[in-house]
Amino acid sequence: MSTGCPVTALFKNNPIGRLLEFQKDPFAFFDKHKPENAAIPVELNLGFRRFFFCYHPDHAQHILQDQKHKYNKSSLVLNKIKALSGPQGLIQLVGEDAARVRNTSAKLMSTDGMDRLIQKVDKFVEEIFPIIDKAIENNEAVDLVPHLTKIVLRTAGVFVLNHDLISESEKLNSAFVDLNRKAGESLRSIAECPFFSSKQKSLNTIHTELDRIAEEVLKDEEPSLLKAMTLRNEEKPFIRDQLKAFMFAGYDTTASSLIFATYLVAASASAQQSIALEAEKKLQQNYDSLRKSTFVQSTYKEALRLYPSAYFLPRETNQDDILGGVKIPKGSQVFLSVRHLQRHPDYFENPNEFKADRFLEDLKHQFSFIPFGGGPRICIGAALAKLEATLVLQKLCERYEMQTVYNRPPTIEALITAHTNEPLPVIFKRRDRYVS
Ligand code: HEM
Repeated sequence: MSTGCPVTALFKNNPIGRLLEFQKDPFAFFDKHKPENAAIPVELNLGFRRFFFCYHPDHAQHILQDQKHKYNKSSLVLNKIKALSGPQGLIQLVGEDAARVRNTSAKLMSTDGMDRLIQKVDKFVEEIFPIIDKAIENNEAVDLVPHLTKIVLRTAGVFVLNHDLISESEKLNSAFVDLNRKAGESLRSIAECPFFSSKQKSLNTIHTELDRIAEEVLKDEEPSLLKAMTLRNEEKPFIRDQLKAFMFAGYDTTASSLIFATYLVAASASAQQSIALEAEKKLQQNYDSLRKSTFVQSTYKEALRLYPSAYFLPRETNQDDILGGVKIPKGSQVFLSVRHLQRHPDYFENPNEFKADRFLEDLKHQFSFIPFGGGPRICIGAALAKLEATLVLQKLCERYEMQTVYNRPPTIEALITAHTNEPLPVIFKRRDRYVS
């Protein structure tokens, strides 16, 4: 006799049921429908739409590089995040407008620009040392989530506005988290999400704060995205959408990846030791020496491989295509599971294991590691994210030994991006060399 819920049974294995499944837990959905042979995309109807789920690095190469002209960003997903990323923000733009904004922001990531940001991040990290030292004295663990999140928000503020968002951090953080949650829920729902009043409230908070700060800092001589866009005589609403797009795309992703990376490093005494030794050998604290710190770079990549915050890439076909032998009609939604292809056993030995030195060797497949996407719309902020995360890891490991309180992988919640939805308590001890 079946003990299952009759309502669940009614929707089992049909388009509505699958949509409800995806809505409930996209991570579990991707896992459940992964075929034995990941080389073949899986065709599934969800609600009234046709989806293809892809799990193989060859699919990533096909979609992002070889046949990129047949794949647009998914209009379904773009619509869901429009309020968050700004209707004219880079994420939504195409053609000449997109190229112009990409070009302007890429210039800010020159070596000089990055050296300036390193100094700021360095200071932001040092500000959490007294909190950690106090916790050591009191034999207490420190929940790193709020501290790491604040470092990332402050860095985003410097890049986008040349403004330290310290006093706005709590307000802006809750507005962004709220909107990300709403967008995630909306992406997963059958019908369009109604315009929640709290969504409007969070949007208003972001608009008001960005407009106020932009007005205040406009006369600054220091470089920022705001300054660069203003010098190009872009229209005000266009500029505000870029500020929003960069905050949205860069803040939450970087914070999540840094939290996952710190968790993995805190659980591995040998990774901490190697990062500290490498940091000790650095001659200078600058962008060049950070990029040459190959161990910490490898460690961060390994964290991004296991826990990509952009866990899937959504695309839509603008013409018929054939992918992995399967016909993909024009107008289909094609979702590439970054998390699965980055754990493909043909390309990574013991793929579910954290191996901090894994990326000291070359990749076996260029598209087996794509945490920042690929092709013409590859993440424009990847260098900044790497700078921040690797510098934070280095500075923590140089000064402290860390131990996680929980002896298990972090729990993950899949919204528009993947998050840990729990604290990250870490027990610290000063590294001997630094004990005064
Ligand atoms: C670990 C951190 C980050 C991850 C995992 C990440 C991931 C991604 C991915 C996968 C894409 C491509 C999406 C697609 O093709 O559909 C993307 C695009 C983008 N990212 Fe990042 N990103 C990160 C950090 C940043 C930072 C720090 C910034 C800003 C400074 C940023 C700004 C952007 C923008 C503006 C786009 C849109 C580019 C375009 O459409 O031309 N990202 N990001």
